[in-house]
Amino acid sequence: MAVKKDLSINYLGLKCENPFFLSSSPVGSCYEMVAKSFEAGWGGVFYKTVGIFVADECSPRFDNNSKEGLRWVGFKNMEQISDKPTELNFENIARLKRDYPDKLMVASIMGSDDDEWKKLAKMAEQAGADMIEGNFSCPQMSNHAMGSDVGSSPDLVRRYSKAVTEVTKLPFIAKMTPNITSMEIPARAAAEGGAAGISAINTIKSITNIDLENLTSMPVVDGKSSISGYSGAAVKPIALRFIAQMAKDEKLKGVEFSGIGGVETWQDALEFVLLGARNIQVTTGIMQYGYRIVEDMISGFSHFMDEKGVSSVDELVGGALSNIIPAEDLNRDFKVLPSFDEDRCIGCGRCYISCYDGAHQAIDWDEERRRPKLNDNCVGCHLCLNVCPVQECILPGEIKFKEGRRAGDVVIKRHYE
Ligand SMILES: Cc1cc2nc3c(=O)[nH]c(=O)nc-3n(C[C@H](O)[C@H](O)[C@H](O)COP(=O)(O)O)c2cc1C
Ligand code: SF4
Ligand code: SF4
Repeated sequence: MAVKKDLSINYLGLKCENPFFLSSSPVGSCYEMVAKSFEAGWGGVFYKTVGIFVADECSPRFDNNSKEGLRWVGFKNMEQISDKPTELNFENIARLKRDYPDKLMVASIMGSDDDEWKKLAKMAEQAGADMIEGNFSCPQMSNHAMGSDVGSSPDLVRRYSKAVTEVTKLPFIAKMTPNITSMEIPARAAAEGGAAGISAINTIKSITNIDLENLTSMPVVDGKSSISGYSGAAVKPIALRFIAQMAKDEKLKGVEFSGIGGVETWQDALEFVLLGARNIQVTTGIMQYGYRIVEDMISGFSHFMDEKGVSSVDELVGGALSNIIPAEDLNRDFKVLPSFDEDRCIGCGRCYISCYDGAHQAIDWDEERRRPKLNDNCVGCHLCLNVCPVQECILPGEIKFKEGRRAGDVVIKRHYE
């Protein structure tokens, strides 16, 4: 039975029907596309970045990584900010706000100096945008006074955040580049400059594939290519760690986080929420599957909340943060041996090969029965559990305490369905 829960959030002082937004990119780059996404159920849009600079794009501009036949494990783009006239973009934002007053309109802007940032912020306010996002993070701008070169300089992030917040009362969100070691540093600078929110991540500098025909990277533009932004499922783990580190940072208390990077399903979105993001943004998942993926997010969240007896998204925000601890604080007193379900096992031998060649030679292979058998070498690393192609065929089993360590209660994951 369909469960409907109230998924509304208060994001930077404004109410919106759910936390699911389009992130700034082609998926929200004109009136018709954003209108269709709103009809599909998205709560708001970070409209495609608008600058005074109008992009001159190359063709082709996309590539993807595949693994074992699965395409789009990661996605590379060489696109810059909007290639539409500045005024037209703000007209679209104004029309969308007029026709969909209950949806949240965030104008994403990018200037190349103080004056441009101020001018764009005023234009966004005049267009009726609810909030402004500063794009400090596009890694493939052809002008280096803009994009991730700015986002990796805390001084410039502070300065341009201040330029915007000096001329508008709209909440300002700084969008961070992952092409840096510690995102907390530029994020703190943005907050010092007046940013109320941080969104992360923009794309990661990458070379996805080498074209062996032209001896260049992909995509091939007149025989050449550039290092540029990587997104999609492959970047989610990196995005999650940046969000968690910022959400745990004492100096960023009170700052709202918007999580971006590889979200395709309700579980992906929930992971960002549990690590401290109140708002979720998506691009690559929509480019691959269309706006309809929001239906799964809405129904998945509703069912999860119903099952857990949770009445608001707010109750979930940051719920996993206290369990992310430094490596030196982990309990290292025990090992969890794998347990093999002989009835589920299909005798493929992958656990045996991986453990022998890549772990600790802790599995003996019964040739006759084609079944694995654990020996005394096992260290409980769970490589075998990770390679087994059959769901829940290998599960965590006996907990063994190391010699001299005191036995106690241990929390482990039991279900891998
Ligand atoms: C084709 C493409 C164009 C993008 N253009 C912009 C942009 O104009 N402004 C911006 O802030 N981010 C831009 N991004 C970055 C996305 O908004 C997002 O931060 C990133 O792709 C990670 O999320 P995802 O894995 O859901 O795509 C673009 C991404 C893609 C794939
Ligand atoms: S847990 Fe690690 S060491 Fe033990 S059997 Fe599996 S792969 Fe081998
Ligand atoms: S990988 Fe899984 S299915 Fe294959 S032999 Fe090992 S336990 Fe059986």
